[in-house]
Amino acid sequence: MVDARGREIRYLRLSVTDRCNLRCRYCMPAQGVEWVPHSALLRYEEMVRLTALLARLGVDTVRLTGGEPLVRRDLDRLVGALKTTRGIRSVTLTTNALLLERQLPALLRAGLDGVNVSLDTLDRAQYAAITRFDALEQALSGLEAALAAPGLTVKLNCVPLGENDDQLVPLAALARDRELSVRFIELMPIGLGGELPRRTQAQVLARLEAAFGPAVPCPAPALGAGPGRYVKFAGFTGRVGFISAVSHAFCDRCNRVRLTAGGYLKTCLQYRTGVDLKALLDAGASDGVLLAAMEEAIAAKPAAHHFSQGAQPQDEGANMNEIGG
Ligand code: 5AD
Ligand code: SF4
Repeated sequence: MVDARGREIRYLRLSVTDRCNLRCRYCMPAQGVEWVPHSALLRYEEMVRLTALLARLGVDTVRLTGGEPLVRRDLDRLVGALKTTRGIRSVTLTTNALLLERQLPALLRAGLDGVNVSLDTLDRAQYAAITRFDALEQALSGLEAALAAPGLTVKLNCVPLGENDDQLVPLAALARDRELSVRFIELMPIGLGGELPRRTQAQVLARLEAAFGPAVPCPAPALGAGPGRYVKFAGFTGRVGFISAVSHAFCDRCNRVRLTAGGYLKTCLQYRTGVDLKALLDAGASDGVLLAAMEEAIAAKPAAHHFSQGAQPQDEGANMNEIGG
């Protein structure tokens, strides 16, 4: 379906839980948050039903997010059901990879198409400082398992925070000898992300070019692809990408909607606008009523975020763990 500004909505970010086994400083407070109660989470059957309806409106790509999606039980069951949903072509996962090595075989059997691993540093002490858990080795074994899986698209996501400046080059270098996309994601001022130091795309690129030589831009991706912009360095097998919502806003080609773990269909990361599909499900809504609610919400998708202009009253108040990035 096309929204009021002519953007074709094809991509769903589906948060399956707000819970996480890490406490990344830009995402969750040290003491944790009050979890959404189980009764307020969507069940897998409900997620599949809502996804099937969104697929009728043109969604063909689903990315599972969290919190940490692998802490929700039997995620492979959801992957399998989504993969057999009419209209859905791709089901991928964004994960911190701590539980990935163990769960990957079942996820692959269910048809998982790709994995994005969130990893901000290769330094053990820095990892513990950023995520508040000493779990780098577990994350790395998850990443290695994903890289070893034939046919799985693997990407690595790093948020440059200043304190991991010295890690940008080593992380990018992981793409030198492997078919891996290493992406640098500008910290967005959502929830706790508004309070931390950040680095821009230009600052990261300058460091990488000092180490690897000039970056050669890859051709802009086909319409319908994600917001990443990619470059190649001489001698690299994989690519390096930038997702720069602050310095290079991509709202004009945004193709996505989000479904929170609590069943709220969000049409823009920065605003609370959207529709409470869980409330409609709980009230016994028919497919027709749900479809109409989805269409109305998507048509009214906000034109753009306003990250550079400070807070506004209609802004999202939730932390990232409830939204799924
Ligand atoms: N800005 C940018 N990225 C963020 N993530 C979490 N919070 C933010 C933020 N404020 C990232 C995580 C993970 C993905 C799901 O979102 O690092 O890679
Ligand atoms: Fe967990 Fe991801 Fe938030 Fe880190 S950013 S605390 S891994 S949900």
